[in-house]
Amino acid sequence: MWKVGYFQFRPLFGQVERNVERVVHALRDVEADLIVLPELPFTGYFFRDRQEALDLAEDPEDSPTLQVLIALCKGRNFHLVTGFAEKRGNRCYNSAILIGPDGVRHIYRKLHLFHEEKHWFDPGDRPLAVTEVHGVRIGMMICFDWIFPEAMRTLAVLGADIVCHPSNLVLSYCQQTMLSRCLENGVFAITANRIGVDRRPHGSIRFTGKSQIVAPRGELRHRGPSRKEELYITSIDPLEARDKQFTPLNHLMNDRRPEFYRPLVESNPSGSSGATRASD
Ligand code: ACM
Repeated sequence: MWKVGYFQFRPLFGQVERNVERVVHALRDVEADLIVLPELPFTGYFFRDRQEALDLAEDPEDSPTLQVLIALCKGRNFHLVTGFAEKRGNRCYNSAILIGPDGVRHIYRKLHLFHEEKHWFDPGDRPLAVTEVHGVRIGMMICFDWIFPEAMRTLAVLGADIVCHPSNLVLSYCQQTMLSRCLENGVFAITANRIGVDRRPHGSIRFTGKSQIVAPRGELRHRGPSRKEELYITSIDPLEARDKQFTPLNHLMNDRRPEFYRPLVESNPSGSSGATRASD
């Protein structure tokens, strides 16, 4: 069995040190194998422009925030998945990182940027991947990736048992949709969402909380509150995700017909309208 969970909290925009302290304080006594934090939990979300995102972002090779978090993982002997703003020269990514007692294991750069994120970040430029931790396969995707089923499907095809999903959700659809994502892929998902409001001179955005853990048959194990902080830890058997037998005669992975899904890997097979005539 694995003890997994999330910390849903209210980051304060631009107050990186304070937000890191908040996380370290909340997790200081936790006994767990894997904890997930929200998207961009240290910088906050609602940037004025790309320069502001770059100014707050950190290069993982030289990141005070990551050093503190790795020390936390060492001290508590757990793994952590967290969002962070990743700076590489003049490039800036909305990323998630898997770290453990031995340091950085993997970095994922958000593939599907939401709304104004397209002004602040470069789109992810690395393949989706799965990382093994003590025999359990961990995949990462970030927030709006949920609306592209290909993201979670790819992680499932790569063998993910648990999909960690740091989020800053602002719409109401994701939490319910993730039940279907888990059912169709036979995986666990931990969606860690933030709460609170980023109130900035250029406007405000409210985040919806309701972080959750979903099991491979689409069963909601737990959903948190929409406006309160919550540290939630539970026990799961990650190997439940290895059973892809949906009925005695149906297997979620082996029954796929990828030879008929070719349009999925072409950029825009039906042209810009996206429509296909019945006679085609
Ligand atoms: C989102 O992708 N942060 C909505």
